[in-house]
Amino acid sequence: MRSKDFFQIIKKIGNSTSLRPIKFKNILIGRAMCGIVGYIGAKSAAGLIVNGLKRLEYRGYDSAGVVTVEDDGLYVEKCEGKVAELDRRVKYGELRATLGVGHTRWATHGAPTDANAHPHTDNSGAIAIVHNGIIENHAAIKSKLSEKGYIFRSETDSEVLAVLIGCHYERLRNLEEAARAALSEIEGTFGLAMVSSHDRDILIVARRGSPIVIGMGEGEYIAASDASAIIQHTRQVIYLEDNEMAVIRRGGCLTKTIQNVATKGKIHELDYDVESIEKGGFAHFMLKEIYEQPTSFRDAMRGRLMVEDGNVKLGGLRLVEDKIRNAKRLILLGCGTAWHAGLAGEYMLERLAKIPVEVEYASEFRYRNPIISADDVVIAISQSGETADTLAALREAKLKGATILGVVNVVGSTIARSTDAGVYIHAGPEIGVASTKAFTSQLAALALLALYLGRMHSLSQLEGSMIAEALRTIPEKIQFILDHAESVRSIAQEYAKADNFFFLGRGANFPVALEGALKLKEISYINAQGYPAAEMKHGPIALIDDKTPALFIVPKDELYEKTLSNIEEVRARGGRIIAIAGEGDTHIQKLAESVIYIPNTLPILQPILATIPLQLLAYYIAVERGTNVDMPRNLAKSVTVE
Ligand code: F6R
Repeated sequence: MRSKDFFQIIKKIGNSTSLRPIKFKNILIGRAMCGIVGYIGAKSAAGLIVNGLKRLEYRGYDSAGVVTVEDDGLYVEKCEGKVAELDRRVKYGELRATLGVGHTRWATHGAPTDANAHPHTDNSGAIAIVHNGIIENHAAIKSKLSEKGYIFRSETDSEVLAVLIGCHYERLRNLEEAARAALSEIEGTFGLAMVSSHDRDILIVARRGSPIVIGMGEGEYIAASDASAIIQHTRQVIYLEDNEMAVIRRGGCLTKTIQNVATKGKIHELDYDVESIEKGGFAHFMLKEIYEQPTSFRDAMRGRLMVEDGNVKLGGLRLVEDKIRNAKRLILLGCGTAWHAGLAGEYMLERLAKIPVEVEYASEFRYRNPIISADDVVIAISQSGETADTLAALREAKLKGATILGVVNVVGSTIARSTDAGVYIHAGPEIGVASTKAFTSQLAALALLALYLGRMHSLSQLEGSMIAEALRTIPEKIQFILDHAESVRSIAQEYAKADNFFFLGRGANFPVALEGALKLKEISYINAQGYPAAEMKHGPIALIDDKTPALFIVPKDELYEKTLSNIEEVRARGGRIIAIAGEGDTHIQKLAESVIYIPNTLPILQPILATIPLQLLAYYIAVERGTNVDMPRNLAKSVTVE
């Protein structure tokens, strides 16, 4: 069943432990930027695990590895590079095992080398683990183990955990107890999967701060850090809670706390299908996700928008309605693209709800000891729901007494479960590392929230109805832009060789200019800067020359004439002007070298439409430059380190 909002989820699970909101003291920041897959069942494990890793590769792609439990011991293959390289190396023909684990890594401790790649084994070579997270006391444990004569072959904290488990096994002669002893000793975070040649019928997984999901198939279990590796096998899953572990045998799966108290792992049904994590005929996930936006935007509004009443139904906020109604201030938190969504949301919320809004980089928020009171409502915006900086900022806001909400995509993610209430954006899985559909769905959710709050305060039914109607037609306008993508492609070809790029907008279009610049930077590696258009003359205009394109977002709104003046200023310095303009604006053709037209809508919603050509432009320029669009260098999808 597709969950409608946070609170329906909480209702659905009743008194289960698995999706209950977590208290902040339990939240730990980990590293899910890597992917984990484990398998136990009747099928050949190696191929199944490597295929699962391919699904998770967007989470990290600097090295990969797999271990299977063969009749004559562990088979370990690992290497620097992408999963495809691992796939080439694995000797599938020689492997029979039906138990194993694999990993795809985004390096934090230790460079991406063969030695640092997971799995890591203990000193006996009989126990192997893959690990997401950070072991904070690894140095102390390592020196203790070294004194006892244990050796280490990598620079990773994860190997320390493997060796520690091995050390406990020598004494306890029981894998589960050895894992439990080691996990109780370490400080820090883990998503862990472990196998051993000591017992060919046991897969152990554990979680503290780094997600683990267990898929329950017919006589088989697939454990992973992300459901994308599971969905093609089964939709029935258990989400491990923090400080929980699962002992999985072919005959059954037991969940318990790390302290060995049995827990009730509640089974959930995944609410998407395998098609949504495949490219479906598109050259890249990013392009597919750009094209999904008419649907994803509609999904964000489904069942929520009441055009005639000029209002919005947000079931996920019901329990905190009074808190929101009486909020003196809203604080929006996010990182990267989500922060840009927050900036765009600020315009909508202040305009419609007339409540003061502050938008904060989650990564900076807690370090300046923010002044927060119980009258504040703090809203975390996050696609993954796992971003460490955003979680840490939320924790700070909660400590200081604010009501905390989430605008989140991934159902059941840590942020979704940690907030008092929230609005799911229902964008579906986003695989492309550069966020596209999640951004527009975040804007949809924030527009709904602005309308909802506006109607609680001074917005009339008539005004509400006009805005709701304009929102209703956004998906078809997005479709119109996509149907004319070819013109963006030819503009992209013209400017693909530029070394520098400016993205400029005013008012509500400034955040979208920032987002356009970020998309281009991320996937084409062009140095791109976003600015409020009027700021150019205060410094950055010094960078303008005849090789530097300046893209202006210039819809016919109240700042139109002023933006035209800014265009003239750049033109006068020889800058090459690209304009994103409203349909029917012929004047702009006299000023701009290239024009991309977008349909007109209400000025506060125009940024949503302006986003689409910016995504397409970044995409086509990256393709033109031959970069790896879906896996750009140095990046990973979900940033769960601070
Ligand atoms: C850029 C991008 C990142 C994320 C940021 C926050 O394309 O995807 O800037 O927006 O890392 O991630 P979430 O939204 O998962 O919290």
